Amino acid sequence: MKIGKKATEAEKKAYWRVVKKSGIKLPLKKPTIIDSKGKIHELNLKPHKISYPWISIGTILGQTSINDYTFHLKKFKAKKGDIVAAEAKLPTGDGKVIDVVVWGRIMEIISSNDFLPNEATKELTEGNINIQDTILPLTKNDAVCTVKNLGYTENITGRKLSLKPLNYPVAPGGAVKYPASKDLESLLNADMNGKNPIFIGNLVARKDVDVHVSADNMVSRHVLVIGMTGSGKSVWVRRAVRELMAKQYPILIIDPHGDNLGIVQKAKKLFPKHQIKLFYPKISAPKNNKEVIFTLIEKLGNKLTEPQYEFLNWLLTNIEYESGTSLIHYIATLVQRSNAAADNKRNKSNKGTSGAGHTGASTMGVVSRSLRKVQRKLQEMEQSNKNNMNKFPHLKFEELPDPYSQPEKIIQKSQVSILYLKGYESLPSSTIVSILLDCLFNHRSVGLKTTIPPFFTVLEEAQNFIPSKSDGQEGYPSVSTIKKIATEGRKFGAGLMLVSQRPYRLDDTVCSQMNSYIILRLKNERDQRFVKNTMENWDSEEAKQLPNFANGQGIVSGQITNIPLTVQIKFDDDLTNDDIGDENFISDVQNWKESSVSKKKKEFSKNFDKVFDADQRRPS
Ligand SMILES: Nc1ncnc2c1ncn2[C@@H]1O[C@H](COP(=O)(O)OP(=O)(O)O)[C@@H](O)[C@H]1O
Ligand SMILES: [Mg+2]
Repeated sequence: MKIGKKATEAEKKAYWRVVKKSGIKLPLKKPTIIDSKGKIHELNLKPHKISYPWISIGTILGQTSINDYTFHLKKFKAKKGDIVAAEAKLPTGDGKVIDVVVWGRIMEIISSNDFLPNEATKELTEGNINIQDTILPLTKNDAVCTVKNLGYTENITGRKLSLKPLNYPVAPGGAVKYPASKDLESLLNADMNGKNPIFIGNLVARKDVDVHVSADNMVSRHVLVIGMTGSGKSVWVRRAVRELMAKQYPILIIDPHGDNLGIVQKAKKLFPKHQIKLFYPKISAPKNNKEVIFTLIEKLGNKLTEPQYEFLNWLLTNIEYESGTSLIHYIATLVQRSNAAADNKRNKSNKGTSGAGHTGASTMGVVSRSLRKVQRKLQEMEQSNKNNMNKFPHLKFEELPDPYSQPEKIIQKSQVSILYLKGYESLPSSTIVSILLDCLFNHRSVGLKTTIPPFFTVLEEAQNFIPSKSDGQEGYPSVSTIKKIATEGRKFGAGLMLVSQRPYRLDDTVCSQMNSYIILRLKNERDQRFVKNTMENWDSEEAKQLPNFANGQGIVSGQITNIPLTVQIKFDDDLTNDDIGDENFISDVQNWKESSVSKKKKEFSKNFDKVFDADQRRPS
C-alpha cells in the first residue's frame, strides 16, 4: 500500500488484520500511520501550500457528463468555489478533434476515510479519546470534488480566451489543474476590452484574482442589487458610482435614507472637476397630470364618500395648477376655494360654485378638512426633510430643479445628483420619483436624446418605489414609470440599478427586466426563493452560500460578467463619511438639555391637538 493512494478493499482488510494481530488497543500514542508491511511510522503533519501555476490537483473519476464531473482531489490543493481546469478533446463536428481547456467550478467536496469505520469513531467518542493519540490513520482522508462545467476555451497560447459552451464531456482519468491567477484573470476578463471594464473586487476563493465587470452592460441594461441590511449594498453602490464617475458618466442617486451622502465630500476631493449635487425634493406635479395630485390627496387624506369625491374633482378641474409649482401651495388654494364655496352655500349664494350646485356645505367642509390634512402632512414631511438636512450643516442642499424645463441641471456629464428623500413617506416619495424619472426619461425618448446625455439611476430602498402586487402598488405612480424604464431604458440610455434588502417585496415584472445581479448576504427564506425564481441559470448549490456570506461578499452574475462569480467587493473606505451612519444615541443623551424640553413639549402638544381636531368628522 502506497501512502497517498486510494486503498483497495483487500488493502483495507489487510490493514485491519494488522491492527487486530498487533493487539494494539486504542489509544496508542502520537499520531502514526501503518505501512503495507505493518510497520508503524510517526505521522508528519506539514501544511501544504498551493501557489504554483497550473499544478495538477487531481484525477477525473470514472463517469462524466456535459454539465459536470467528479474528481479525486490531492489533499488541500483546492477548495469549494475554486475554478479549476481540465484538459480535454472535443469533436468539432467536421471530423476533427481539437484540444481544449474545460473550465469548471468546484461545487462540493466530500471527504471520506475508508480506514475510519464507524466502530472506531464510536470507540473514540465513548472512550473520550483523541484520534491523534491512536493508530488511526489521519492521512487516509479522500476528497472527491464535484465540478460544474462553465465552458471551454481553445488551447492556443497567445489567443484571447473566450468561453464557449461544452458539447462533449471531459475524459475520465484526465488531470485536473489549478490555473495560474493571471490565466484565470484573463478568462474572467475576456471580451471585456471595448466594453469598458471596471474593477469591482476579487474572487472570494482566490484573493489574487481581480474581477472586472462591463460598465457598458451595466449602464445600458439594468442591475438588481440585493442583500440584507449590512450586507454591503451601499458599499457596492459606492464602488460602482466611483468607477462610473471616473468615466464621467452622469449619475442620479435616489437616496431615501442618506446612505450616499458620504460620497459627497470625499468624492469632491477625489474628483475635483466633477459636480456633486445634493438635492431636496419639491413636491410638485407636471401640468395636465391632475391624476397624480388626485392620488396623493386620496391616499394622504381622509376617506371620502362619493359626493365628497365629486366635489374634490370639481375643485381640481376648476382651479388651474401651474406645472412645477409647489403642490402645497396649490392645495392651500383648493382649501380656500372649498371653504369659500361652503360659506356661499350656507349664505344660500351660488357664487363661484357653478357646476357644484348640488353639493351641500357640510360635504364641502369634509373635503376642506381632508385637504387641510393632506396639506399639513406634506408640510410635516417637508419640515422633517429639512430637519434631517440640518444634521449636515457642512453639506449644501439645493432644491431639485424642475426636471421638465431644466433637466440639464440634474443630468450632466461628470455630475452626480443625489436626491435626498429622508423624511418623506413612501407614497409622496413614489410621486416625487415618478415625476422626476418620467420627465428625464421623456427627455431621452421623446426629446430625441438631445437635451440630456445617457444617464444611470441608482434607486436605493427600491421596495418603496416598486412594491410587489401583494404589497399593494395601487397609487404608487413610480411603479409604472420604473416599469417603462426597465423595459425601454436600454434603447434610450437610461440604465437602472435597483437596490433592496427585501427582494421578495419587489414588483416581479420590473425584476424580470433586470439582467445583471449583485446578490449579497440573504438569510430570509422567501428572499432566497425569490432569487431562485428570478434568475435564469441559477444553481441551488450556489443559493446555499447566500446566508453565509460575509460583508461585501456576493454573487455577481448576468450580462455584466462572463461567468457568475463569487466576489469580495472592494471597500472604498476613502468614500465613507464618518459623521454619517448609525444614530449615536449615547451622545444624544449625554448632550440632552432639560431646558429645551419644555418648549418642545408645548410645541408638540399644539401640533398633536391639531391632528386630533382634523380627524374629528362632522356627520354630513
Ligand atoms: N466589500 C466590503 N468589504 C469590507 N467591508 C464591507 C464591505 N461591504 C460592507 N462592508 C462592511 O459592512 C458595513 C455595512 O455595509 P453597507 O454597504 O452599509 O450595508 P447595506 O447598505 O447593505 O446595509 C460597512 O460599513 C462595512 O463596514
Ligand atoms: Mg445601505
